Amino acid sequence: MIHLIDVEKYYGQTPVLKGINLSVERGEFVSVMGSSGSGKSTLLNLIGGMDLPDRGSIKVNGRELSSFSDDQLTAYRRQEVGFIFQFFNLLPNITVFENVRMPLLLNDIADSSGVRGYLQRVGMADKTDRFPHELSGGEQQRVAIARALVHAPEIILADEPTGSLDTKNSRDVMDLLAALAKEEGKTVVLVTHEDYIARFSQKVLRISDGVILA
Ligand SMILES: Nc1ncnc2c1ncn2[C@@H]1O[C@H](COP(=O)(O)OP(=O)(O)O)[C@@H](O)[C@H]1O
Ligand SMILES: [Mg+2]
Repeated sequence: MIHLIDVEKYYGQTPVLKGINLSVERGEFVSVMGSSGSGKSTLLNLIGGMDLPDRGSIKVNGRELSSFSDDQLTAYRRQEVGFIFQFFNLLPNITVFENVRMPLLLNDIADSSGVRGYLQRVGMADKTDRFPHELSGGEQQRVAIARALVHAPEIILADEPTGSLDTKNSRDVMDLLAALAKEEGKTVVLVTHEDYIARFSQKVLRISDGVILA
């Protein structure tokens, strides 16, 4: 479903990704492990169409992302991908419900009847009218996961999603992501520097010095 071939990315003259080869099948849960600064976020942003590679190919469902127009790339990002971040990135001035509804608004979907179901899926149905600052970190991340799911993307991209959570909440979040792949066929790509976290996924890859180690 996701195929990267010899992907290179530079910041200025500095190479960050030096020839990444990576394939992720539909419904697979893959972790990419690497130390801080190894290019994990850069890699995830490329897969999510937030940025384009300098060389090489990124194909998602057979389509080359570099061949997309700006509008096609925006549509891909908004409709086909759900992002989860280390610091949740919830909007502080709107409620849980409104945060989860946001991807629907961005996709011009007026029907918000699914929002409660996704909040229930992540165990947050009783806090729909709270504001983010009224929630614990683990709760905020569960809301962020509901937000990443609400527009029914096939691909979930998670950038250090447990990086600011304690062990118990990390485990809950990872169990939830694993279930999304296993039970709902979502394709999940997660990056982390923690060995313990990567072990929740089906496959663990390592990135070092700009390449994925065999
Ligand atoms: N927008 C940017 N401009 C310049 N350098 C960047 C930019 N983003 C990341 N880098 C550099 O690229 C390298 C990889 O960064 P990143 O992908 O964020 O790594 P990781 O997520 O593994 O910590 C780091 O050396 C970082 O400083
Ligand atoms: Mg990072």
